[in-house]
Amino acid sequence: MAQTIIMTHPLIKHKIGIIRRKETGNRDFRALVSEIASLMCYEATKDLPLEKVAIETPIGKTEVEELSGKKLAIVPILRAGLGMVDGMLNMIPAAKVGHVGLYRDESTHEPIEYYFKIPEDISQREVFVVDPMLATGGSAVDAITMLKKRGANKIIFMCIIAAPEGVAKLRSMHPDVDIYIGALDEKLNDDKYIVPGLGDAGDRIFGTK
Ligand code: PRP
Ligand code: URA
Repeated sequence: MAQTIIMTHPLIKHKIGIIRRKETGNRDFRALVSEIASLMCYEATKDLPLEKVAIETPIGKTEVEELSGKKLAIVPILRAGLGMVDGMLNMIPAAKVGHVGLYRDESTHEPIEYYFKIPEDISQREVFVVDPMLATGGSAVDAITMLKKRGANKIIFMCIIAAPEGVAKLRSMHPDVDIYIGALDEKLNDDKYIVPGLGDAGDRIFGTK
């Protein structure tokens, strides 16, 4: 059974507190989203397999543990997921990056697909789907469905803020996917924004409003 893991690290909590503030500007918001992604990546990769490798230090022979060549991919859900990519790559620089373009229709709140490009060998990779916000869950569910259709079989979803409604939907539609959450909020409002949330993540990262 897949896990739902909510971050407890003080650094993550502190940084999420700053991005929630309405007075935090685009530049700080962007930098903090990236830093939170790095810290969450550290948590989400804690079970990656290791193998023993014989090496020589300048002093002598020894055995060390290295990642066992497991291939990784990062797939941001555009646009806001882009804000998490550099932070993830800081931790796992050899990962390949795919992109899934989805936006929520303003009246129906349903996700609309506009872009999809992923590594060809996605079925051989552990895939980290990243998006700062999990609100109704529609975007994450659709992105993961699209990835599975193309052969992805080991998927981890990471978001910074989640609503209980989105977690329940993702859990029921993709019960095999581990979910890493920075903070679990109270609810959605009538416009399907997360309460208290942080507003529109894409607009705050890119300064479009
Ligand atoms: C936001 C966010 C998620 C989605 C979450 O993107 O980045 O992708 O909403 O909502 P959901 O769980 O109800 O689907 P948005 O559609 O605003 O597009 P943007 O990133 O291009 O701003
Ligand atoms: N998308 C956002 O960017 N923020 C929300 O609160 C919900 C969806």
